[in-house]
Amino acid sequence: MTKNRVDDLDTFAQELQSEILREAHARYGDLVIDHWMRPRNWGSLDEPDASAQVTGSCGDTMWITLRVHGATIVACRFTTDGCAAAIACGSVATELLLGKSLQAAARTTTTQILEALGGLPDSDRHCARLAAQTVQAAIRDHAARSLRRTSPRRSPGS
Ligand code: FES
Repeated sequence: MTKNRVDDLDTFAQELQSEILREAHARYGDLVIDHWMRPRNWGSLDEPDASAQVTGSCGDTMWITLRVHGATIVACRFTTDGCAAAIACGSVATELLLGKSLQAAARTTTTQILEALGGLPDSDRHCARLAAQTVQAAIRDHAARSLRRTSPRRSPGS
């Protein structure tokens, strides 16, 4: 391929990328795009105090891990194989969780996540529901782990 053709292809790719970003900003707004492009708390914690994996109605999955000191969430990470909106929702959900008590975190709702992002188009609201459901599942996992730790062990046959 000649240098001119390579340059033409590069220019075409850059223009296409700019056009996609322009459309995404118009559809989602700056805050959602910021959380999508620079997700906060992305990844997973080693030896977490709680974890959850939830697959949403669209077939995409989100994972959340929590570190809890006392009854306070001091660290959390998330990943997802979902869409841009799911990444933004997971990102803002982890921001909502940090520093919260488990009791307060258990009340995290789809609406809170949507409000924190400044809203999403109707067709993407289920992505916020996926994030809220994953948060709820992680809180339930923490409760189940706590129960197992505090329950007296039964010996076989008792
Ligand atoms: Fe599946 Fe957004 S999480 S489409």
